[in-house]
Amino acid sequence: MTDIRTALQRAARDLNASGSPSPRLDAEVLLMHLLGIDRLQLLLRPEMELTGEEDAGFSRWIERRSLGEPVAYILGEKEFWSLRFEVGREVLIPRPETECLIEEVLRFYRPPGKDLRVVDIGTGSGAIGVVLARELPAARVAATDISPGALAVARRNASAHGVSARMDFVQGDLFASFSGDFDIVCSNPPYIREEEYDLLPEGIRKFEPPEALMAGPDGVAFHRTIIREGAHRLRAGGRVFLEIGEGQREAVEALFEETGDYDDISFRKDYGGIDRVVSARKQG
Ligand SMILES: C[S@@+](CC[C@H](N)C(=O)[O-])C[C@H]1O[C@@H](n2cnc3c(N)ncnc32)[C@H](O)[C@@H]1O
Repeated sequence: MTDIRTALQRAARDLNASGSPSPRLDAEVLLMHLLGIDRLQLLLRPEMELTGEEDAGFSRWIERRSLGEPVAYILGEKEFWSLRFEVGREVLIPRPETECLIEEVLRFYRPPGKDLRVVDIGTGSGAIGVVLARELPAARVAATDISPGALAVARRNASAHGVSARMDFVQGDLFASFSGDFDIVCSNPPYIREEEYDLLPEGIRKFEPPEALMAGPDGVAFHRTIIREGAHRLRAGGRVFLEIGEGQREAVEALFEETGDYDDISFRKDYGGIDRVVSARKQG
């Protein structure tokens, strides 16, 4: 029989040997989920024995983590905007910095106006679209992705968070499958330059979908299309909100200025001090 203390020590040692940057924390999170207990219970009951099945299940998870698989994929979930989102290998794991994009949308649109029409391009797990549908109760939110697998996950997340009735899910290339115009266009599009991709941590390259990350030689291929086409898809006075990568501010600002269709271009930093979200207004 193995108790919690021994299981955690063994797991943290194995994860440390495999090069995990946070061995003890990963081991604790995985064991808490496996046993269905919180951190306090985990720490207060170090002598609690694991059943043979729990011990074997924990060892399998630790082995997966040792091979670099992100904890969120092992658990099948990730917290975003304090909500639990299902994730799987077909979707990018939502990142905390993407919450800055939501905050920026809400800065302009809360209290919510009536009948807002919103589109979330490249919805992945549905994180942005689902949260906006919850936060803007008068909005109808379209969510699009090129990946049918991602859209299936996004649909389940919308249903789990009670907003399916106000969301539409469309598979397609950026705006290609949509008609009509929008008040809000938002996207966290792929923004990794091709040559940067090989420098990403192994856990990302091995496990997260490359089509969710890579964006041509300059990293702003998707921003370019969304900004240009967005000018024809936004209602006058509507706004586009885009997540951007480190060092992309100038290139993205130039894309907005080139079209001559936008004003009030503003940038917002993430909590690490990096310009992370750009927003601009379609001129009226
Ligand atoms: C960086 S991920 C963002 C996922 C999610 N919105 C988030 O913030 O966690 C980009 C998403 O864009 C999707 N995507 C890639 N190319 C696309 C295209 N041409 N049209 C629509 N979606 C695309 C990918 O499948 C992926 O889900």
